[in-house]
Amino acid sequence: MKVVVTGAAGYIGAATVELLLGDGHEVIGIDSLMHGGQSLIHLADHENLQFVKADVRDPEAVQPWLENADAVVHLAAIVGDPACRMDPDHTRSVNYDASVALHGWAKAAGVPRFIFASTCSNYGKMEGDGFVNEDSPLRPVSLYAETKVAFEKYLFEHSTPETSAVVLRFSTVYGHSPRTRFDLTVNEFTKDIAKGRTLEIFGEQFWRPYCHVRDLARSVYAGINYDLGEDTADVFNVGDTSENYTKKMIVEAIVDRFPNASVSYVRKDEDPRDYRVNFDKIRDRMGFRITRTVPQGVEEIARLIEFGLIQDTEDQQFYNIPPRRYEDTPAQADRGPVKRQAKARQRRRVK
Ligand SMILES: NC(=O)c1ccc[n+]([C@@H]2O[C@H](COP(=O)([O-])OP(=O)(O)OC[C@H]3O[C@@H](n4cnc5c(N)ncnc54)[C@H](O)[C@@H]3O)[C@@H](O)[C@H]2O)c1
Repeated sequence: MKVVVTGAAGYIGAATVELLLGDGHEVIGIDSLMHGGQSLIHLADHENLQFVKADVRDPEAVQPWLENADAVVHLAAIVGDPACRMDPDHTRSVNYDASVALHGWAKAAGVPRFIFASTCSNYGKMEGDGFVNEDSPLRPVSLYAETKVAFEKYLFEHSTPETSAVVLRFSTVYGHSPRTRFDLTVNEFTKDIAKGRTLEIFGEQFWRPYCHVRDLARSVYAGINYDLGEDTADVFNVGDTSENYTKKMIVEAIVDRFPNASVSYVRKDEDPRDYRVNFDKIRDRMGFRITRTVPQGVEEIARLIEFGLIQDTEDQQFYNIPPRRYEDTPAQADRGPVKRQAKARQRRRVK
């Protein structure tokens, strides 16, 4: 298969490229490298990878690569509410206008499958205590989610049997990839606690689903191969129903790993995003099952820091907006080998 992946150098993109190449497919990666190109350096000499440093909005740079492609996996975007707020016009241009254009080019080239990376945050705030599913109303509460919802709608209206679409509403991502991000809940909290910082949690009672970055990459693969039957487009939540967590539950998973972590909770009664998601559809129709859980992701990130494999966790490459700057005492991970940290942990307290 020949697969065009936009946003190929990103957090999910780089993991997806690795997976596709590992399975023997040809990959055309397109990315403007907003966060650098480190994530693909180890793959640069792979015979099945072609990388194109380009803006996805540029027809001359992008269109020729769509010829004879079996699928377009559209991941390129301005990602996350804070990043989208920084320049709303740019966000609309990349997340919506460019997606419409890319879809048109894919149709013109006769690419059979278009995969779109959407988000479960489209659900906004659920009503009651149940679970939302793909048929639940969408209530976008940010420009980011608005652009995702708008393009989902566009895809359902403009897909054809010749270029059918699979919309994947990803859970919030965690875990390590060639472009690990530390601005997402599980990774950020684990990193801060591993560095010996006190965590301040706002609104610990609000729910969200989480999914490991490599499982999301696997869902892309499943989406490419999925038989849509008579449909020209379909939508799937990506994750597992057992992996819905409140922020407090995430913290508890991290405190299990770091028993003396220091955490304080700040009461917050309203959060526009509060959703528990059902993932039966992707399990039943695609046979998709996750391979990792949040506690495993916590362990993975904890080790990256404790082993000293990622030293400057506040480097811009790990963030989609300028990172917060800390006045740290020496980070726990810098204090010495893992064994000695047990003592350091005992000196800290759980509030
Ligand atoms: N990370 C999450 O929790 C999450 C959750 C739900 C959905 N998603 C979606 O998954 C996709 C990938 O997210 P991610 O976490 O890997 O984000 P990311 O920011 O790590 O990657 C996005 C990539 O897109 C590239 N890009 C941005 N604008 C571009 C442009 N104009 N032309 C070419 N490339 C451009 C960036 O350089 C970056 O490499 C996005 O569409 C995002 O909305 C992510």
